[in-house]
Amino acid sequence: MKVLVACEFSGVVRRAFRALGHDAWSCDLLPAEDGSEYHMRVDALLAACSPRVRPWDLMIAHPPCTHLAVSGARWFKDKLPEQAAALGFVRRLMDTPIPHIAIENPVSIISSKIRKPDQSIQPWQFGHGETKATCLWLKGLPKLVPTNVVEGRDARVHKMPPGPDRWKERSRTFQGIADAMATQWGQALSGGEK
Ligand SMILES: C[S@@+](CC[C@H](N)C(=O)[O-])C[C@H]1O[C@@H](n2cnc3c(N)ncnc32)[C@H](O)[C@@H]1O
Repeated sequence: MKVLVACEFSGVVRRAFRALGHDAWSCDLLPAEDGSEYHMRVDALLAACSPRVRPWDLMIAHPPCTHLAVSGARWFKDKLPEQAAALGFVRRLMDTPIPHIAIENPVSIISSKIRKPDQSIQPWQFGHGETKATCLWLKGLPKLVPTNVVEGRDARVHKMPPGPDRWKERSRTFQGIADAMATQWGQALSGGEK
């Protein structure tokens, strides 16, 4: 299966799909943190829409939430243009002609301005003892089923020291969620066929 993981610098989801034999690629404006040859440093819409790149079966996109997350609501009135642009980016990702799409974001104004998410998941449902509500807007995909519900529900992000890379640590996809996406969506869409 040909999988595009859009807006991913870490390679966590890309590697989870590749480990199961899928032809998975990540793309981001940033270079891949792991230096992978399966990363394209390119705009996600270009990678998603260009038939010259490849005909994707599935796209999982992690668009920036800086101007969308409800946790930043107190600044919303000062950043309306940025918000409109961020919502436009999400809409265009949702509208790409890829048959199966998952858009991932925290609790955000995507819910009120575009549509409600199909599912909200937590890291503690997938083996990580942490809380961070993660919403999924799905097209042609089943909801993820929790794989390993654990105790110890700290909020990882609140314990991180300030620094230039804090946003990266906060936004990195949890391994257990990436593994569930690869296993469950890989199986649902290809029935084992790579
Ligand atoms: C919230 S972070 C997602 C990180 C991801 N969960 C991971 O583990 O790498 C959003 C990412 O979108 C990237 N990005 C922003 N605009 C983009 C665009 N137009 N095309 C591709 N990537 C973009 C940023 O560089 C950033 O890495």
